Amino acid sequence: MEAIALVPIVEAAVLAPSVENTQPWRFALHPGEAKTASIDLFADRSRLLSVADPSGRELHISCGAAIEFARVAGRGLGLDCRVELLPDPADEDHLARLVFEGEELPTATDLSLAQALPHRYTERGPFEDRVVPDGLVERLRQCVLPFEAWLKVLEPGADQTTAAVLLGMADEIASAWESYEAEAALWRRSEPGQTDGLPAYLEERKLAGRASSFKLRGSHSSGPQSGLEEAPPPAEHPLVAVIGTPGDEPYYWLQAGRALGRLLVTAAAQGVSASPMTQILEIEPTRALLTRELRLVGRPQVLLRMGYAHGEPSAPRRPIEEVLIDAPDVPQAS
Ligand SMILES: Cc1cc2nc3c(=O)[nH]c(=O)nc-3n(C[C@H](O)[C@H](O)[C@H](O)COP(=O)(O)O)c2cc1C
Repeated sequence: MEAIALVPIVEAAVLAPSVENTQPWRFALHPGEAKTASIDLFADRSRLLSVADPSGRELHISCGAAIEFARVAGRGLGLDCRVELLPDPADEDHLARLVFEGEELPTATDLSLAQALPHRYTERGPFEDRVVPDGLVERLRQCVLPFEAWLKVLEPGADQTTAAVLLGMADEIASAWESYEAEAALWRRSEPGQTDGLPAYLEERKLAGRASSFKLRGSHSSGPQSGLEEAPPPAEHPLVAVIGTPGDEPYYWLQAGRALGRLLVTAAAQGVSASPMTQILEIEPTRALLTRELRLVGRPQVLLRMGYAHGEPSAPRRPIEEVLIDAPDVPQAS
């Protein structure tokens, strides 16, 4: 039996979305044949947003998305992968072990998801004036269930209005919170050639007030704001949805990230892109209000808008050598 090539799987994993493009992950490879080959995923806490994300919730969500991207890439190569979350109780940074257990020909769905990985990206501009069809919405609802997560779709009307108002409120609170703004500024990149954070050209795509009712992180400082003299916003009918979990601890944060990863790839395979709008969940008063007003059960983890757009993946990634570490001495799966 041949040794499994693990580097292409990590190359797919790092295509996952991460909060502020922090890419807070490290990987240790344990090459081998099927059943012995594995990848350990560790948190890189030097990349934690200690003001916006002091508990590391969004760091875990980002890493959870990377786990699912690795799993989808593995299935595309015909590899089955068992995921063990938090396998080492003595090391809270050891977030997951992915054990490549066996080989089975990929299905058409496996292939289409794997092919979508490099095309998925965060769309910060407006969406086209067309709705995500009901059949796909139902598939998105179903695809998060294996991760113990739920997807609540916010109906146009009262629920979407509540979310839009609370997003505006979160943005106002953030803009007056100096250390929060200072931390966000650390991840804004103005020089070319940067491999993490948010380059200026992406910030410019961010919605200003007049492009959509749904404000994105930092949009108060990145463009014209709506005013009575301006033309009305272009028509946009995004799907707005919340991913949530029953609990609020590292295990569920990772599950939320895996659900997010799966949902984004499922959508991307159908030409639908998304943007998370998570500021609302980082700021406690707006998180509590969203939970109460939308009658959510459990912990909302990610708020998203989704729709059709024509953008290209363009957030940079760190070179793979920077995220690979020497395999520490951890017990291997038998
Ligand atoms: C947990 C999490 C929270 C995020 N929050 C936001 C957000 O509030 N606003 C936003 O525009 N993008 C948000 N993003 C998207 C990231 O900025 C994006 O994934 C990153 O810049 C990499 O770009 P890409 O998704 O196009 O590959 C978030 C992503 C994750 C995983």
